[in-house]
Amino acid sequence: MRFLAAFVLLFVSACTAAPDNDASQVAPILTTEDAVDIQTFAQPEIARVTHVSLDLELDFEGQGVSGSATLDIEAAEGADTIILDQDGYVVSAVTAADGAELPFETGEAQDGKGAPLTITMGDARQVTIAYSANNAAALQWLTPDQTAGKKHPYLLSQGQATLNRTWIPTQDSPGIRQTWDARIVAPEELTVVMSGLSGGDAEAAGEGKHAFTFEMDKSVPPYLIAIAAGDIVFQELGPRSGVWSEPSMIEAAASELSDTEAMIDAAEKLYGPYRWGRYDMIVLPPAFPYGGMENPVMTFLTPTFIAGDRSLTGLIAHELAHSWSGNLVTNANWTDSWLNEGVTSYFENRIVEEIYGKKRADQEAALAFANIEETLAEVGMDAPGTSLHQAVNLDSIGSAIIYDKGAYFLRTVESIVGRERFDAWLEQWFDNHAFQPATSAMMLADMEANLVKDEAEAEALMLREWIYEPGLPSNVAKPDPAAFAEVDAAAKLFTDSRELNDAAWGGWTSAERQRFLAGLPRRLNEAELAALDEALKLSDSTNNEELFLWLELALENQNERVVPIAEEFLVNVGRRKFVAPLFETLMDQGAWGEPIATRVYAKARPGYHSVTTGTVDEIVGFSG
Ligand code: BES
Ligand code: ZN
Repeated sequence: MRFLAAFVLLFVSACTAAPDNDASQVAPILTTEDAVDIQTFAQPEIARVTHVSLDLELDFEGQGVSGSATLDIEAAEGADTIILDQDGYVVSAVTAADGAELPFETGEAQDGKGAPLTITMGDARQVTIAYSANNAAALQWLTPDQTAGKKHPYLLSQGQATLNRTWIPTQDSPGIRQTWDARIVAPEELTVVMSGLSGGDAEAAGEGKHAFTFEMDKSVPPYLIAIAAGDIVFQELGPRSGVWSEPSMIEAAASELSDTEAMIDAAEKLYGPYRWGRYDMIVLPPAFPYGGMENPVMTFLTPTFIAGDRSLTGLIAHELAHSWSGNLVTNANWTDSWLNEGVTSYFENRIVEEIYGKKRADQEAALAFANIEETLAEVGMDAPGTSLHQAVNLDSIGSAIIYDKGAYFLRTVESIVGRERFDAWLEQWFDNHAFQPATSAMMLADMEANLVKDEAEAEALMLREWIYEPGLPSNVAKPDPAAFAEVDAAAKLFTDSRELNDAAWGGWTSAERQRFLAGLPRRLNEAELAALDEALKLSDSTNNEELFLWLELALENQNERVVPIAEEFLVNVGRRKFVAPLFETLMDQGAWGEPIATRVYAKARPGYHSVTTGTVDEIVGFSG
């Protein structure tokens, strides 16, 4: 064992000597205890993947991918095994570059983690894994019926946090950065996109098939490898941005996304160059389980953000901001996902301020603050899950801590040290850690070394408390109470006297409308709900955030009239953030709601991604 430790040390110090933040260079593995990822079987200090080369064919009938992955490996001297993460894919052979067959073995699976795949590589430092992946949890195979065009099938993937180990044989940990390339064979009616730069037009690849190539020459955490395939077209948005979608949606998508290029410019002005070349997006079918996913050079988006008036494009600012926070500087493990999501939510709001002005930015920030307060009131100020650095990686508290408390931490720091110093500090953080993993402890040390001016300021900032303690520190920079003064007065008027001002509603921003809906009394009778719907046309809303809040309120009051609307929404949309709370609301309604939930879920479930069924199965008590 001591023998091995010596090798490991040698290896680690050799890696640390590699030039910092060179995009194509693989970053050193962090070896501090807080950087260890307990959700991987990989032992990167002994042997790590540095490059993945995929050669895969998509099989829409069999709903699977098959082919090979060739891995480049860097290993400590003398190391003769490498451990990968394996969750469901089936390996048929592993070979070295000279064609020699290498022994491999799947170990015991652990809940939610898959199993270790140990390859005895000897002194080989490149291995090719022949494999296939059916029923991979990351991949969703849509039938033509689940697309807008209804003619062709569709494939989409979701890798974060630990799903890519269901279809890519590699070390699936955010601290183990890898470059990658891919060749993907697909039916010739379909176009394939990935989270890497495209090698150009498809080439013929046998009867009725063609092949696309992709390359990511910057080292990325493997959760960011993503694929989509369907009957899709492209529309240019700006010199380095564009959007993909099904043909029938491309116009609406491009129009909703017309601020993208300005957002990239604004982000660069704030925190330094955009380092990924192009910024393209794909608007997926509504089955996509998230609002957005920051896959490099190809952000994945739900179509439910399209409201017709760009009122929900904070989502775009968010996914774009991940090009710095998350994709450039990456949480070393998922206990520090606030480093990805919280920093991004702060950055998102700064972009929104640049593009749409301070009023909209302040309102969106005030909504986030209300979310923190509501969640803390629910779970308690002392709940351990309410610290930014999470002792264990629970997915339970929702967005209020990791996203919103994370953003409010940086807002608070900004308000104390001033915007100028704060922005300079954050830009150097991105620069100095570019293409590398990071931990909370590193962020804290960096703030102490490069931001905090003196003892008095250190005391005022309460950095350690913000990162490691539950609840909300006393120095939090609260949002301007005036942000929603008018709307809150209107909600109070309705609460006190059931009076409505539909003219005012017509002039409100989406944030104001969301605030108003959240501020209504939770108990309303049928007549009151009907009056609200009549005056504000809520059931006909084309803004899905508003429609969702309305459906939630109406179902909470066992309102029969919205049931068909809710049913259509739940069957059509697979975005977990909307779907899970609506099923939860129905289940809370006992004898009235449970049968509706069960009936609708039976219909909707086949159209959901595993991310969404994973959550809703538990809510509805579904068990096969
Ligand atoms: N990276 C996240 C999505 C994610 C988080 C997937 C954790 C898997 C595990 C993405 O950037 C995100 O935060 N999406 C939000 C959008 C938002 C807060 C504007 C969403 O999907 O709602
Ligand atoms: Zn995010």
